[in-house]
Amino acid sequence: MLKTKKYNYLNSQDKLNIKKLFSILEKLSTKHPYLVILILHEYYRSLYSFDPYIKFKIQDPSKRIKKLIKELINFATLSFKIGSYNIKLERKFFFRDHKNEFEEIKKKTGNVYGPLWKRFKKINNLEAIKLLKNRLPSNNLFKNKIVLDAGCGGGRYSYAITRLGAKKVTGIDFGDLGLKIAKKNYGKTKNLNFKKGNVLNLPFKDNSFDTVFSNGVIHHTTDLKKGISELVRVCKPGGNIWLYLYSTGGIFWYSRNLMNKLMKKIPYTLSEQFLRIMQMPDNRFIFMDNWYVPIEQHCSHKEVYKYLRKLNVSKIKKFFGRNKFDLDYSLKKFKNSEFIWGEGEIRFLIQK
Ligand SMILES: C[S@@+](CC[C@H](N)C(=O)[O-])C[C@H]1O[C@@H](n2cnc3c(N)ncnc32)[C@H](O)[C@@H]1O
Repeated sequence: MLKTKKYNYLNSQDKLNIKKLFSILEKLSTKHPYLVILILHEYYRSLYSFDPYIKFKIQDPSKRIKKLIKELINFATLSFKIGSYNIKLERKFFFRDHKNEFEEIKKKTGNVYGPLWKRFKKINNLEAIKLLKNRLPSNNLFKNKIVLDAGCGGGRYSYAITRLGAKKVTGIDFGDLGLKIAKKNYGKTKNLNFKKGNVLNLPFKDNSFDTVFSNGVIHHTTDLKKGISELVRVCKPGGNIWLYLYSTGGIFWYSRNLMNKLMKKIPYTLSEQFLRIMQMPDNRFIFMDNWYVPIEQHCSHKEVYKYLRKLNVSKIKKFFGRNKFDLDYSLKKFKNSEFIWGEGEIRFLIQK
């Protein structure tokens, strides 16, 4: 198991303030859970350098985030003075120690992502083509290739890859609802098929695919190493693997870790209803992904490099996100911002 729990780049005062905010929010979650949702919505969106929906009053992310943390501590503290009823929260959605209960993880992960894919509109799905073009090296990765989309969710990238000229694309995921939506939206696409399966134990022979694509999946499994080794196993020698993983370090990843823990105390349905009342746009429901996914692991570039070398891959190339909401873009735009975004995100093109 790859394990990084160190959130370096963070200074101790920022860490202390964030801890304070989250400890107040934890107490507030039993009294005014909807206020916790409101506060974390504001906090989460502010952790990016760019918000396409609500303009930031302070542009400098460092000043803005530090100021906001203090303001939210004050706001949350004042909220205790507001009277509340005896709130009984539905805790059925969550579970105890799930680290090794695969069926439970599968169910809970499906419960988080299924509704998200449902909300994605055709236009959001089509954006996937633009995102791929902007993030990946060139069409050669897919043109006339046999491709696996490992952890395909609602199939937006599987479909985008067919549009980029792939010969055959297989999308695999263990989530029933995601697969149902993928089949409904793209089931008729020529050369595209969807299959149910576990990325930790891919139902394919060694060396089956020219290109293996995995976007934001392996960090949601119990075993990062096994997940990575499966991607490499099913790729043909000389073929390519596109791997996107969450990274670590800085206020951003540290806070995501805390949000993922805290929000498990507030029912999914309550957050969903509250965000709806706020009229949050549908494609932003992705916030719920971090708040409710059972497993979200953060690892360093170094660890992944080290492990890939052990697997004897022939080349590893790092790519930098170029979209406005990619952390790498923000790291480049704002000098000395590692304390906010740490190592950014892991985007590797690996040749087997
Ligand atoms: C963040 S979503 C990414 C989906 C898709 N790659 C995309 O970018 O639109 C993560 C997906 O991984 C799937 N997943 C997580 N663990 C899995 C596992 N062990 N086997 C198969 N799928 C898994 C989830 O069901 C979910 O659809």
